[in-house]
Amino acid sequence: MNFQAILDDIDAAVRPLLGAQGQVASYIPALARVSPQQFGIALRTRDGLEAASGDAATPFSIQSMSKLFSLTMAMQHLGDTLWQRIGREPSGNPFNSLVQLENEQGKPRNPFINAGAIAVADRLLSHGDGVGSLLEMLSDLCNEPVHLDPEVARSEAETGFRNHAVANFMKSFGKLDNPVAAVLDLYFHQCAIRMSCQQMARAAGYLCRDGHHPYRTDVAVVTESQARRVNALMLTCGTYDAAGEFAYRIGLPCKSGVGGGIVAVVPDQLTLCVWSPALDASGNSLLGMHALELFAGRTGLSIF
Ligand code: DON
Repeated sequence: MNFQAILDDIDAAVRPLLGAQGQVASYIPALARVSPQQFGIALRTRDGLEAASGDAATPFSIQSMSKLFSLTMAMQHLGDTLWQRIGREPSGNPFNSLVQLENEQGKPRNPFINAGAIAVADRLLSHGDGVGSLLEMLSDLCNEPVHLDPEVARSEAETGFRNHAVANFMKSFGKLDNPVAAVLDLYFHQCAIRMSCQQMARAAGYLCRDGHHPYRTDVAVVTESQARRVNALMLTCGTYDAAGEFAYRIGLPCKSGVGGGIVAVVPDQLTLCVWSPALDASGNSLLGMHALELFAGRTGLSIF
């Protein structure tokens, strides 16, 4: 398959639609300033072949895509004990919802909603990991240095009223071991990490390689069964209350972020990242989703 030609065609189809629909995330001032006139797409195959088009080399705020890597790190360090504090069911609710937490005694539905990622951050802190460990892991996975934007982290902290509520609520149920301020500090900083589509497609490569490092096949990032499970969670929970729509229209495990990025996995074949900042009502990139649908249609690649 000529992936470069396919990505160039998708870029040509999407570019005229830029700015027509959707809204850039506005609840975080530093994100509200990003131009919606941008679109990037990049992929890396299991064997290391790469293709990219549009703004694929432009770094953007990975936001909730960071939850994929914090989960991976927590699985590496804690194994199955992680699941004592966090569920594995789709929530069917927005990413920042509080409604299920009370009924479920502060145990988040899954590691990809905010409550779940905050619980993962708590576990990582107890293990001695901070945002530095995540940056180190991401830099190692994509084979070049990855940084975060301190202004976005500050902006998250200043406007993250719901996340403060979620974390305090879980603390009241005894579900966080560390101080709320420390847990949120890690969560806000991981959301402020910046990566390009190319870096993201490379970093997530272990998910299409049975858990093996994207650049070093002799290194296991996670076990084969853990990689399969991360993919299962991405498919069922990675795009929040739009997970059913993503499975229906795209048919691939995906993880999105309100910076407008979406990373998708074709197990055993490739990882793909799309980015366009304007979002739909569920907080997923509108044109990113459209581009993934074009890719699945054009290549026939799907897990179904
Ligand atoms: O917790 C928040 O509000 C953000 N920093 C991250 C949210 C996010 O990316 C949700 N994903 N679509």
